[in-house]
Amino acid sequence: GPAMVTDTFSRVHTYLRISLTEKCNLRCQYCMPAEGIALTPNQRLLTTQEIMRLTRLFVEAGINKVRLTGGEPTLRPDLVDLCHQLKVLPGLETIAITTNGITLSRNLPALQEAGLSAINISLDTLRPERFEVMSRRPGHDKVMRSIDKALSMGYNPVKLNVVVMRGVNDDELNDFVALTRDHPINVRFIEYMPFDGNVWSDKKMVPYREMMARVREALQQQHQLDQRQQQQQQQQQELSPVETAASNSHQSSSSSSSSSCSEHNQLLERLADPNGEVAKNFRVPGHAGIISFVTSMTSHFCGECNRLRLMADGNLKVCLFGASEVSLRDAMRGGATDEDLRLIIGAAVRRKKAKHAGMFEIAATQNRPMITIGG
Ligand code: GTP
Ligand code: 5AD
Ligand code: SF4
Repeated sequence: GPAMVTDTFSRVHTYLRISLTEKCNLRCQYCMPAEGIALTPNQRLLTTQEIMRLTRLFVEAGINKVRLTGGEPTLRPDLVDLCHQLKVLPGLETIAITTNGITLSRNLPALQEAGLSAINISLDTLRPERFEVMSRRPGHDKVMRSIDKALSMGYNPVKLNVVVMRGVNDDELNDFVALTRDHPINVRFIEYMPFDGNVWSDKKMVPYREMMARVREALQQQHQLDQRQQQQQQQQQELSPVETAASNSHQSSSSSSSSSCSEHNQLLERLADPNGEVAKNFRVPGHAGIISFVTSMTSHFCGECNRLRLMADGNLKVCLFGASEVSLRDAMRGGATDEDLRLIIGAAVRRKKAKHAGMFEIAATQNRPMITIGG
C-alpha cells in the first residue's frame, strides 16, 4: 500500500518518472557535455518487461501518474507497445511524456491511441539558427511541426519547456509569451540547473523573479501601446460627430488607471497550484495559454515533492539532486520477489531528504548527467 511510497516527511509519492533510454538525437548544452556520455551497455538497461513489473508495483502502491522521459523517450523502439501496457494498469490515470519533439509528430497518432495523455516538449528558442547552437543539432522545424500536431490532436495544454540561459536565449521570453495568446500552450520558463558535465554557473542562471519582472514590463508596455492606439481610434471617430461624448468619458477613465499597481499585477495573474506542482503558473487575461516558471534553484518546492524516478539502468532515484540510488535491476535479476522489491523501494523512499541542499552545494556535488535522468 501507500507505505512503500511515503517518506519520513509524510510526503506521499504519486508520480513516477521513467527514463526509457540514455540516448538522444540532440546534444543540448544544458543537458550533456559536447563529447557525449558513456552509455550503459544494452544488457544492463531495463527490459520493457522489467519496467512493467516495477511500474505495476508502484501503481499498486499509489502511483497514479507516469511520465516517460530519457534521454529522448521516442527513441525507444517499443514505446507504443509500452504505452498500451501502461494504459491497462488499474489506477494509473495519466501517461505523460517529455520529449524534444524531433520525431514526435510521426509517432503521435499511434501514441494517442495507446493512451498517451499529456505532452511536454522541450523548446528553448524560436530561432532556427539559435536552435542549432543550443542543441548542437538541426531540427527546429521538426519540433515546431510536432507542437502543431500535438495541438491539432487535442492535447491541451501542450507544455513547452524553455530552459532560460543568460546571454543565450533570455532575450526571447516575450516571443514565447506571445505564443500563449492564441494557442492553449503552457510556456514554462525553467531556471537553469547544475548537472554533471553541463558547466553550470549561477551567472548563466536567470532567477525567476527577474524573468517575471521582464515579462511583466513587456506586458505593461504592450498594454499602454494598445491603450494609446484605442485612444487614437477614438479621437479619429470624434472628428465625425458620432458618439463623441461616450468616447470622451471612456478615454479619460481608462488613461487615469493605466499605470496603477493593481492593473500591473492583473496583466500577469497568478493561478492556484495543483498539489505537487513544480511550476508557478500565471495567466495573461485574454490569452488562451498559460505562462509558468519552474523555480528549482531560487525557490524550491521540495516540501510538496511527489516524484520518484526510475532510471533506464534500473536505479531508483528518490530526488533529482540526491546521489542516493538503489539498483532495482540487480534486485530483480538476483531473484527478488515482489515483496522483496517493495521493501527495497520503501527503504529507499524513506532515505529521501527533506529538501535539496541548495544550488551551490548541488553544483559542487557529483550527480548524474541530466541526459541519464530525464528531468
Ligand atoms: P508536469 O507533470 O506537466 O508538471 O511536468 P513536470 O514539470 O513534472 O516534468 P517535465 O519533464 O516537463 O520537467 C520540467 C522541468 O521541471 C525540468 O527542468 C525538470 O527537471 C523539472 N522538474 C521536474 N520534476 C522535478 C522535481 O521533482 N524537482 C525539481 N527540482 N525539478 C523538477
Ligand atoms: N536545467 C533545467 N532544466 C533542464 N532540462 C534539461 N536540462 C536542464 C537543466 N540543466 C529540462 C529540459 C527538459 C526537461 C526534462 O528538463 O527542458 O524538457
Ligand atoms: Fe523533489 Fe528533490 Fe526536486 Fe526537491 S529537488 S522537488 S526533493 S526531486
